[in-house]
Amino acid sequence: MSAAKPIRAVLVTGGAGFIGGNLVRHLRRERPQWTIVNLDKLTYAGNLESLADLRADPKHVFVRGDIANAELVEQLLRAHAIDAVLNLAAESHVDRSILGPGIFVETNVGGTQALLEAARQAGVARFVQISTDEVYGSLGAEGRFSETSPIQPSSPYSASKAASDLIALSYHHTYGLDVVVTRCSNNYGPYQFPEKLIPLMIANAMEGKRLPVYGDGMQVRDWIHVEDHCAALLAALEKGAAGGVYNIGSDNEWPNLAIVRAILKELGKDASLIEHVKDRLGHDRRYAIDARKAHETLGWAPRIPFAQGLASTVAWYGANRPWWERVRSGEYRAYYEKNYGARG
Ligand code: NAD
Ligand code: DAU
Repeated sequence: MSAAKPIRAVLVTGGAGFIGGNLVRHLRRERPQWTIVNLDKLTYAGNLESLADLRADPKHVFVRGDIANAELVEQLLRAHAIDAVLNLAAESHVDRSILGPGIFVETNVGGTQALLEAARQAGVARFVQISTDEVYGSLGAEGRFSETSPIQPSSPYSASKAASDLIALSYHHTYGLDVVVTRCSNNYGPYQFPEKLIPLMIANAMEGKRLPVYGDGMQVRDWIHVEDHCAALLAALEKGAAGGVYNIGSDNEWPNLAIVRAILKELGKDASLIEHVKDRLGHDRRYAIDARKAHETLGWAPRIPFAQGLASTVAWYGANRPWWERVRSGEYRAYYEKNYGARG
């Protein structure tokens, strides 16, 4: 991004979700002079309670709205003189995409295109599209995804993400919009919706419920702490090349069953809680990320060792039971509507 124009204001979309909320907090800490406008539709996955500590922060402006609403987005970009957009708004859960793909295409593809168009019209200096390693499809036992690996998504979720990151790159090639695409591996950490593997298993184990492991549980994911991902996103925003694609990962592969066992050990619970259930349709077997380009060109490296990150995440879910109990029961919507009124 041009060194001539320092960043003063950014639009973060999806900032009431897991990574977006952690990113807003990361940016407030690391770049306290920036104004952050946070646009989120508050779907089932968006939770203003996750941003409670930022309520009175004058540099954090929350707006409830849809990235597909081009008129609203363009008005926000101009009114706040937004220098850069970080697009995290998405439907993000693979299992939900198998049950109902339509909203994934609507939000991840249509919404991203509307946001790109608004950014182009408003003359935004940089657009960071937060994508995923799932766009590369599935690996066998060997190898890792590099930025030049073929795009071979297998689920409706990953196909919609692949489409949105290619549309973002097309806005760079066609219109000269300054776009950077990041493709990160599986995140874990605080405020993750307890439908994803790690928080689901922690919450179930804490409640003494069965832990549903899909198939043989030997599918491999490459885990990164959300704080490390947020640091990489800031580096990509500030140091990425226009039109560049950056893989983000922590070189931390684990079979699902090993993760589940590690969580049980951390909680002192018995492995008899594990229940092998029917496999996910079209389940990708293995992901592994080669993040050397991000290390070498963005000067970024992950810092949180997995054993420490997993232990602190388990501790966070232990200390924040009301948060995930409300999320799980669906009561969180009523809770924050009562507490946050019109903003929620
Ligand atoms: P999340 O489901 O926790 O949060 C998504 C947020 O987007 C929610 O707050 C939701 O309300 C909001 N949203 C959904 N549709 C919207 C719309 N039309 N307009 C405005 N806001 C909308 O997801 P997450 O896990 O935080 O993922 C964030 C981004 O990072 C996604 O783009 C996802 O594809 C990507 N990603 C996630 C991971 C991961 O492991 N979680 C890894 C790599 C990339
Ligand atoms: O790789 C990045 C992607 O990681 C992100 O783009 C997605 O937004 C994010 O949801 C995540 O996708 P996964 O499908 O890998 O995450 P999930 O937590 O749903 O599942 C992780 C693994 O655990 C996967 O192999 C399926 C398995 N699983 C998951 C659940 C929810 C189970 O065995 N049991 C479960 O109940």
